[in-house]
This record gives sequence, C-alpha cells and structure tokens, in this order.
Amino acid sequence: MRIFLVGFMGAGKSTLGRELAPLMNMQFVDLDQEIEARAGKGIPAIFAAEGEAHFRDLEKQMLHEVIEKDNIIVACGGGTPCYFDNMDVMNKSGVTLYIKMSTDALTERLQQDGSRPLINDLNNGELWQWIHNTLEDRETFYLQAQYKVKGKGLKASELAEFVRLFVLGEKAEA
Ligand code: S3P
Repeated sequence: MRIFLVGFMGAGKSTLGRELAPLMNMQFVDLDQEIEARAGKGIPAIFAAEGEAHFRDLEKQMLHEVIEKDNIIVACGGGTPCYFDNMDVMNKSGVTLYIKMSTDALTERLQQDGSRPLINDLNNGELWQWIHNTLEDRETFYLQAQYKVKGKGLKASELAEFVRLFVLGEKAEA
C-alpha cells in the first residue's frame, strides 16, 4: 500500500507522516527531502537558481520514482497535487489523504517560516491573503483526495486509527 498525504504547506504532512509510518509499519518518504537530496541543494536554492517550473519538473519526476516503491507513506509538497497529472497518478497508485487546515491556522503556522520560497517575501497581512487565495485554487486538487481529515491538533496516533478504521477497514477494538 502507498499512502499520500496532501495538503497546504504547513498543514503538518511531513511531521504526521514521519510519526505515522512506524505506527503502520510502513516506510516514510518526504518528497521535498528526496528532491533536495537528488539536487544536492535546498528547495529555496532550486527556486532561486532554476525557477519554480524546474522545481515542478523535479517534483513530478521524483513522484514517479517514489511510486515504484511499496509500503510507503509519502508526504507530498503543498503544490504536488496541483501540477501535471500528479493527483491522478497518486489516486491510481495508492490512497490519498487530504490534511485540511483553515487559512487562519495555516497563517499562524507559516508566519515564522523562512524555508518556503513562495511565501518568503510576504508580510503577515499579505501572507493571510496569499494563503486564502492559493488554498481556494488548490482545493480543487486537494479535494480529489480519497479521504479528508481535519489537520488542526491532529495526532499521528489518531491518524493511524483513522487509516486502520476507514482505509484498511479494520474493526475498532472493543
Ligand atoms: C510548496 C510547498 C513546499 C515545497 C515548495 C513548494 C508549494 O512543501 O514543496 O516550497 O507549492 O506549496 P511543503 O508543503 O512541505 O511545505
């Protein structure tokens, strides 16, 4: 089985995925980290040197490599489902799970962030507006996920329970 965690940047995909993997006896793959390891530089440096379009190509390429593996939980980048046919590819090769979070919660979590090139130059007011607009555009893709869960306060143990009950169809323990 392959589980893809999708959702906006800051929604907690990587943290949840990393903690969820051992609970499910699966391997964790962070798509952004794989891209960085392959490129030999961080995402901000890729954006700065080669631009976003090149990053999106690398992201697509890495997604196709990653789905060669099985028994994995993949934390996608916030933009992964929204480019090319990536969302279809994920839906066909595994289980997709949207970690949903509000604009307010995302703004709070992303305010202090210096590692994401798409938001680096925005002040706090602009950040809220950018998240609001971008989330609206991107939800078209995120909502194609097979499962949707509220991300605020979500613990990996709760997500594991959700996956066992609803994805794997296991019975709840008495
Ligand atoms: C991006 C999200 C980032 C990373 C890149 C672009 C986006 O990943 O892939 O900075 O377009 O939303 P996270 O969602 O893990 O921050």
